[in-house]
Amino acid sequence: MKVLVTGGAGYIGSHTVLCLLQSNHQVIVYDNLCNSSEESLTRVQKLTGKQLEFVEGDIRDTTKLDAVFDNHKIDAVIHFSALKAVGESAQIPLSYYQNNVHGSVCLLEVMQKHQVQNFIFSSSATVYGEENDIPYVETMKLGTPSSAYGASKVMVERIMADQALANNKFRGVSLRYFNPIGAHPSGIIGEDPKGIPNNLLPFVAQVAVGKRDKLSIFGDDYDTEDGSCERDYLHVMDLAEGHVAALDWLNANSDFTGVEAFNLGTGKGISVFKIVAAFEKAVHKTIPYHVSPRRSGDLSAFWANAQKASSQLNWQAKRSLNDMMEDTWRWQSNNPNGYDV
Ligand SMILES: NC(=O)c1ccc[n+]([C@@H]2O[C@H](COP(=O)([O-])OP(=O)(O)OC[C@H]3O[C@@H](n4cnc5c(N)ncnc54)[C@H](O)[C@@H]3O)[C@@H](O)[C@H]2O)c1
Repeated sequence: MKVLVTGGAGYIGSHTVLCLLQSNHQVIVYDNLCNSSEESLTRVQKLTGKQLEFVEGDIRDTTKLDAVFDNHKIDAVIHFSALKAVGESAQIPLSYYQNNVHGSVCLLEVMQKHQVQNFIFSSSATVYGEENDIPYVETMKLGTPSSAYGASKVMVERIMADQALANNKFRGVSLRYFNPIGAHPSGIIGEDPKGIPNNLLPFVAQVAVGKRDKLSIFGDDYDTEDGSCERDYLHVMDLAEGHVAALDWLNANSDFTGVEAFNLGTGKGISVFKIVAAFEKAVHKTIPYHVSPRRSGDLSAFWANAQKASSQLNWQAKRSLNDMMEDTWRWQSNNPNGYDV
C-alpha cells in the first residue's frame, strides 16, 4: 500500500515507518518537524535499506497537503501528528485544539476530497477519562479527560464517528496507545524529546547519561502497591507493529466501514518505582530521585484490556520490560544529544 504518515519523523512515527518499509509498504512522511528531526528518517532509511519520500509541511496547510494527494495515489493515512505534552496543554490549550483538532479536520477534508477512506488515528488511553474502571475496555464510553490534550483526542474520535455516519465509505481505526517506551534495538533511532522530557523513561535515561541531576517522582502516596502511579508500559516496536497489524486488518476486512477502536497495551500496570528499579538493574546504574507532590490530573493507575487487539488484529505486545530498558539505554548512551550530532 502507499501510506501517508503524518508526524512520521517523531518518536512513534519513525518506528512505525521502519516497520511499514520492512513490510514492503511505500511511505510518504508529512511532518512540520516542530518536535522532531529529519535525521530520524535518514536513519530509518539506512536501517531498512529502503527509500521513503519526505515532505516538510503542516497538516493545517491544506494547499500543500492537497498537492501531496495530487501527486500520489494514497491508499491509507496514518495520522500521528499532534502536540502531546499534557502539562503544556493546560498552558496553551488553544494551540492544542488548533493543532490537534483543527489539524485533523484539515487532513480529513483533504482525504475526503481525494476519496481516500482508510484512516488510522493515534489516540490515547487518556480518552477513557477519570470515570471508567480499570482495566479499560473499548466498549466503555469515552470519558472526560482533565487535560486539553486528552480532550483533543476525544474530539478527534468523535469527529471520526461523525464522519463515518456522513460518509458510508469511511474506514477509521482509532488506536488507543497506553505508555510507549523503549527504542529500536539497534540504538539508532529512539525518543528525542525537545527540552525537558515530559515522560518518565526519557527523563530516567537523561539522568543516567548525566544530562539531568535527579528524577522527580510525582507522588508516593497513591492507593497502589508501592504508592507510586502505575501505567501500562509497552515497547515502541510492539506499538509500531500494531499499526502494520491495523493496516493488514483494514485490507483483510474489505467490507468494513465505520470506526473501530483498539487498545494497544500489555494489559499490565507497572509502578514508577518498579520502572526505575528495572532500569537500574538493566543498565547497572543508580538513578538519584526525589519524591515531589502529585501532579494535578495524574490518575493513580490504569492499564489496558488488550483482548480485542489480540483476537481481531492478531497483535500482542511481546517484548519484555528488560528489552524496554536495555533498548532505551542503547539509544540514549549512543546518542546522548539525540539526533543533534
Ligand atoms: N508518546 C506517547 O506516550 C503517546 C501516548 C498516546 C498517544 N500518543 C500520540 O501518538 C502520536 C505520536 O506521538 P509521539 O510520541 O511520536 O510524538 P512526537 O512529538 O515525537 O511526534 C509527533 C510528530 O508530529 C509532528 N507534528 C506536530 N504537529 C504537526 C503539524 N501541525 N503538522 C505536521 N506535523 C506535525 C511533530 O513534528 C512530530 O514529528 C501523537 O498523536 C500523540 O498524541 C503518544
